[in-house]
Amino acid sequence: NIGAQRFLPTEVSLPALREAARRCEGCDLYRDATQTVFGEGVPDARFMLVGEQPGDQEDQEGAPFVGPAGRVLDRALEEAGIDREAVYVTNAVKHFKFTPGGKRRIHQKPTVGEINACRPWLEAEMLLVDPEVTVVLGATAARALLGPDFRVTRRRGEPVPRREGAYYVATIHPSAILRAPDRDEAYAGFLADLTVAARTAA
Ligand code: URA
Ligand code: SF4
Repeated sequence: NIGAQRFLPTEVSLPALREAARRCEGCDLYRDATQTVFGEGVPDARFMLVGEQPGDQEDQEGAPFVGPAGRVLDRALEEAGIDREAVYVTNAVKHFKFTPGGKRRIHQKPTVGEINACRPWLEAEMLLVDPEVTVVLGATAARALLGPDFRVTRRRGEPVPRREGAYYVATIHPSAILRAPDRDEAYAGFLADLTVAARTAA
């Protein structure tokens, strides 16, 4: 993993980053994936949502959170009163990691090395969008943004200062709701955390 840093463009803008990220070879994940899935949304969004990595459908469509997890996220954002037009959505890792099992591709968790390799893209997006509230979706995003000691299960739904007037709010990953034994309960907890995020923005 040589890291994404050397693939960053000299021009610092979201369009320039997105274009440069298409050619990133900062870790091995670019080899088997279809394409880089860069962040999308409003450039001056008040909310930034950070997931783990693109899933199967995101890999094919080239956009974040357009599959099953995205539908859960869309519903919860609406219920929490966060306009999807007011958000920028991205992932800690920009390429889909999977094992090619038959015709379905099975999602695999990115390693710490891959998370670190990809972090320059996420850091650049954070600098440019500079949201009031960054919603950290699950352990991988938490690792990338809050470090190895942060525990989502202990600190979810709690505003954590990022800079003066800006916060992180961590919660579970929407995919975890789809796998939960009690989906309704998992969803209710997720919605409660997003409601905290909505109220945290001034
Ligand atoms: N899960 C994620 O973490 N990100 C996506 O874009 C889709 C599913
Ligand atoms: Fe580059 Fe990130 Fe893709 Fe690795 S996962 S090749 S660091 S964009």
